[in-house]
Amino acid sequence: MEQQKAIIETQELTKAYNGQAAVDRLSFNVNEGEIFGFLGPNGAGKTTTLLMLLGLTEPTAGKARVLGVDPARDPVRVKGMIGYLPENMGFYRDMNAWQSLMYIAELNGLSQDAANRRIESALRTVSLLNESKKEVGSYSRGMRQRLGIAEVLVKEPKVAFLDEPTLGLDPDTANRMIELVEGLCRVKGMTVLLSSHLLHQVQKICHRVGIMINGRMVAQGQMDQLAEEKLGVGREQYTLEEIYMKYFREA
Ligand SMILES: Nc1ncnc2c1ncn2[C@@H]1O[C@H](COP(=O)(O)OP(=O)(O)O)[C@@H](O)[C@H]1O
Ligand SMILES: [Mg+2]
Repeated sequence: MEQQKAIIETQELTKAYNGQAAVDRLSFNVNEGEIFGFLGPNGAGKTTTLLMLLGLTEPTAGKARVLGVDPARDPVRVKGMIGYLPENMGFYRDMNAWQSLMYIAELNGLSQDAANRRIESALRTVSLLNESKKEVGSYSRGMRQRLGIAEVLVKEPKVAFLDEPTLGLDPDTANRMIELVEGLCRVKGMTVLLSSHLLHQVQKICHRVGIMINGRMVAQGQMDQLAEEKLGVGREQYTLEEIYMKYFREA
């Protein structure tokens, strides 16, 4: 088998708020080119984990590495390397989509030429090219989420963290979003850590999943393997929801 390169690594990563562990001794890896589905109910600790990996909040204990860099020691460098779609996208409401992407391009030091090319291509990919001159403040949630993905595209990161990218989207838009992520991974070789509690979407595109409950990762692996272990069934005889519920009931 080909040697797999870990892009994200954590060891016993822990975050406590007021003595309560929001993330409790979390150890997992995400390999190059993989889409890793980070699953769990609200309050499980998914966003807190992403924030630690981004260097936006400091761990209480344990270690993390993203592309070999420790986010707690070098948050600026780590943030520069990661494309991040936060749970709640903040935008400059009175900029239009093109302007807000140009702002991202400039922050990332792209030349004017490269910026124009990438912005046009990103807007086309997320089907916002025709609406790129409208103020972002007038966008629907689905359009804002797609603009968030366009920001990731303009940056062309090696690794992207997408926190609930389909939350609040109608099923059709959500499916397009999921296909978009899958395509980025396949075509650009991007590594994706995707948090979600919407399981049937995750099941379609993730190579591996981790199930987080009360700050602990209670299972991780390929879905077929978890189904075999937990449900005793083979390929295509299960839904991710069945696996998830089994772990959830036992936790
Ligand atoms: N800034 C904070 N201060 C105190 N508690 C927090 C803070 N952020 C998150 N928490 C708590 O940590 C736990 C995990 O939250 P979170 O990481 O947002 O979960 P998820 O993203 O899986 O829904 C929750 O119990 C939440 O209330
Ligand atoms: Mg969250």
